[in-house]
Amino acid sequence: MLLEKDFIATSYQSIETAIFEWSAPSNIALVKYWGKKERQIPANPSISFTLKNCKTITKLEVVKRNFDKLSLTGMEFSFELLFEGKPKEDFKPKIQKFFERIEQFCPFLKEYHFKIDTQNTFPHSSGIASSASGMAALAMNIMSLEKAINPSISDEYFYAKASFLARLGSGSACRSIKGEVVVWGNHAEISGSSDLFGVALTEIHQNFKNYQDTILLVDKGEKQVSSTVGHDLMHNHPFAERRFNQAHENLSKIKAILTSGNVSEFIKIVESEALTLHAMMMTSMPYFILMKPNTLEIINKIWKYRTETQVPVCFTLDAGANVHVLYPENVKEKVLQFIQDELIEYCQNGQYICDEIGNGAQDLK
Ligand code: DP6
Repeated sequence: MLLEKDFIATSYQSIETAIFEWSAPSNIALVKYWGKKERQIPANPSISFTLKNCKTITKLEVVKRNFDKLSLTGMEFSFELLFEGKPKEDFKPKIQKFFERIEQFCPFLKEYHFKIDTQNTFPHSSGIASSASGMAALAMNIMSLEKAINPSISDEYFYAKASFLARLGSGSACRSIKGEVVVWGNHAEISGSSDLFGVALTEIHQNFKNYQDTILLVDKGEKQVSSTVGHDLMHNHPFAERRFNQAHENLSKIKAILTSGNVSEFIKIVESEALTLHAMMMTSMPYFILMKPNTLEIINKIWKYRTETQVPVCFTLDAGANVHVLYPENVKEKVLQFIQDELIEYCQNGQYICDEIGNGAQDLK
């Protein structure tokens, strides 16, 4: 069982220069993380499908700085940031904050200058959050640096610490390191589960292999309420305690469902979780609504189509108006036809992204 203190790097050498490059995917939660404690500890456990096509690709160039060991603590982090090849000042505060949070566990960071060169495979303005894939890709690169200066670390430690670091950047990012299904947060029935990092759930039934996720881009605008604010509103929320217990119950159920292959039971939990997430937003103080009229149009169309055709298609939502349409691979053709015929009229500029379950971060070097 890895504890926080186990993630503090203690013995390491130094290197002059190095270049690393990793991709990390986005993920879509089935049981949602909504509410957290101090230090990015989730209020309840969550589970997600790791995606394949929506990802961030990040190259990290590392150059040793000139410094005197004694003055290291007073020094600032040294990094430059390129997004799609161009300097991007707006992203720097997030990276600065990430470095501050992880420095305790990676005390070597200030010894180096970093050039971070990052891009997404999905349009930045799509409303798809890039924080999960972005923080996961950066965390993988940092771990490659740690491995370079301390080659003795095991593969298991490498991935667990990458997820641990990613979590400190953005909670859901810790579920973007591995595939195909990842649990984050202590859960009585999942051995090895931890509030500190994500663990892959094995024994997934054939019915869920290559599960499809078509993301309908309903609203590409900036969200009115950020996830950070939303999580915070779960403190003193009238339904918080009941909700956190429900997440534990739903995780037990979905774990059994993912093993047994019961798609109709899967649909019930997943859609209920999506609506519960938004119900929490609507019952916060202050309250807010992130769904748009077209989000509801799509949900109703999916329900009607499912009743009429018995095709096991369902939806989930993240903290926004976009709809993730989830379905087994063997009904892909039918569902894509349905999306074309009946749903794209509700998407902004008719845009949607086809994705499916994937395997997690990849070393591109
Ligand atoms: C609704 O991981 O973006 O997508 O930890 O503050 O960075 P921070 O929050 P974030 O929250 C994601 C919330 C969610 C549900 C989920 O992914 O589980």
